[in-house]
Amino acid sequence: MRDLSAHAALVSLLYAVLLFSGTSAQNSTTSGGSTEGWSAVHLIDDAIIPQPSSRSADRVFALPGQPKRGIVVQYAGYVTVSAAAGRAFFYYFSEGPISINQSLFIWFNGGPGCSSFGNGAMLEHGPFSVGLDGMSLQPNKFSWSKVASVLYVDSPVGAGFSYSNSSSDYETYSDELTAIDNYKFLLNWLERFPEYKTRDVYLAGEGYAGHYVLQLAQMILAHNAAGKYTNITLKGLALGNAILDEEALNRGVDHYLASHGYISYRSYQACYSNGSSSDCSLLAQAKDKTLRSIYPYDITAHVCKVTSIPIDLSQSANGLYECDVQRLVSYLNLPDVKAALHVNSAVSSKAWTKCNENISKAYQNTSSSMLPALRGVVSAGLQVLLYRRETITKKNSVQVFDLCLCCD
Ligand SMILES: *[C@@H]1O[C@H](CO)[C@@H](O)[C@H](O)[C@H]1NC(C)=O
Ligand SMILES: *[C@@H]1O[C@H](CO)[C@@H](O)[C@H](O)[C@H]1NC(C)=O
Ligand SMILES: *[C@@H]1O[C@H](CO)[C@@H](O)[C@H](O)[C@H]1NC(C)=O
Ligand SMILES: *[C@@H]1O[C@H](CO)[C@@H](O)[C@H](O)[C@H]1NC(C)=O
Ligand SMILES: *[C@@H]1O[C@H](CO)[C@@H](O)[C@H](O)[C@H]1NC(C)=O
Ligand SMILES: *[C@@H]1O[C@H](CO)[C@@H](O)[C@H](O)[C@H]1NC(C)=O
Ligand SMILES: *[C@@H]1O[C@H](CO)[C@@H](O)[C@H](O)[C@H]1NC(C)=O
Repeated sequence: MRDLSAHAALVSLLYAVLLFSGTSAQNSTTSGGSTEGWSAVHLIDDAIIPQPSSRSADRVFALPGQPKRGIVVQYAGYVTVSAAAGRAFFYYFSEGPISINQSLFIWFNGGPGCSSFGNGAMLEHGPFSVGLDGMSLQPNKFSWSKVASVLYVDSPVGAGFSYSNSSSDYETYSDELTAIDNYKFLLNWLERFPEYKTRDVYLAGEGYAGHYVLQLAQMILAHNAAGKYTNITLKGLALGNAILDEEALNRGVDHYLASHGYISYRSYQACYSNGSSSDCSLLAQAKDKTLRSIYPYDITAHVCKVTSIPIDLSQSANGLYECDVQRLVSYLNLPDVKAALHVNSAVSSKAWTKCNENISKAYQNTSSSMLPALRGVVSAGLQVLLYRRETITKKNSVQVFDLCLCCD
């Protein structure tokens, strides 16, 4: 369980700790669902937008370096979410085996500003990962596409290969704008892949995508209830190491560091045991120092010392996550890879980055706690899976257990 890349997503499922099922919730309703905790849900007009692209144009027969054996039915391209601004979201879609009537999984990475295609598909659970040479692909045996059709969307604008022709779009970011664009993306994507309109839909994501997933779920429920647009058969949500509640998150990180010996348990207790008279200054100092000296996404990982591609086999035999990232950056910046993915010329000349820091800096979150929204979607009948990875400090741990606060 050393790297976050290939198998982490599935391994994480082993740590799944809570499964809420709305079907047993009281006051179960299929109406709009609660918008509690997020007042921004309002019905949007003119969500169906004329699209310059088509399904056949988006088909990717093979990515550069893709293994010859094995068939992967995949698509990549853009869905316009604002014609006036010239704003479009990049997606990558890998269909599951046609022998089964698969569900549609829609995956988001967080950040805000990280690419879902790059992080989710290429480092976690897509059909391929990048080989040691940084130019070839290898099958990912933990691919979710073996059991479902998975749609990865780079959101919000400026993440991954998503772009806008209006420069002002790169300055204004909020949960509300993201949710509206994500909903428009999904509706218009379904026009291009209409047989998926009747499939069961699950929304999934990690980290900050806890916000995106819950808010998109609220948008879908509200629009379904109003009978606007396609009724999306949303069945459930899966959230990994999700940011759902600031307070629980902070406490979770502190508890995790203290219980793994990175900060003293006494300073943890001093901060949390004594109610309002608590002293958190020691803890804050120790935490700051610790987080600067460890790799926060995996406390057991070694640092990748390799800086050149192709990577020396002897040094990367451990499948270090950071080395995987370097290979990915190398691969996704190859011109023929961008061309095969139908990346728009507005962004293909720029370097692809895993996460766009400008977005996280500019982003306005709507709420410090998504717990009321979580409660709302559960009582509307959705199933919610919360899972976490054991060795990650940054977005961890007790927060998940603390969520029992919200499920009575
Ligand atoms: C169900 O709804 C009723 C009326 O709105 C409310 O009084 C009650 O507390 C709700 N129960 C739960 C479990 O939310
Ligand atoms: C952005 O502008 C380019 C060049 O005019 C155009 O080809 C492209 O379709 C525009 N994108 C969107 C989403 O409208
Ligand atoms: C696939 O699932 C949809 C939605 O549940 C259903 O309407 C359709 O009949 C199914 N098709 C097959 C071939 O099972
Ligand atoms: C619309 O989708 C919801 C799931 O969000 C489902 O419960 C409901 O039955 C669907 N309504 C119709 C009219 O198909
Ligand atoms: C909590 O506060 C009491 C009284 O102020 C003090 O005696 C005790 O040492 C504190 N506990 C911790 C763990 O700091
Ligand atoms: C971040 O913003 C700066 C200043 O506007 C710009 O030069 C840079 O290209 C942006 N980075 C990304 C990844 O878009
Ligand atoms: C949400 O915004 C507040 C205030 O700007 C900030 O302190 C907090 O870190 C943000 N939370 C996340 C998860 O980005």
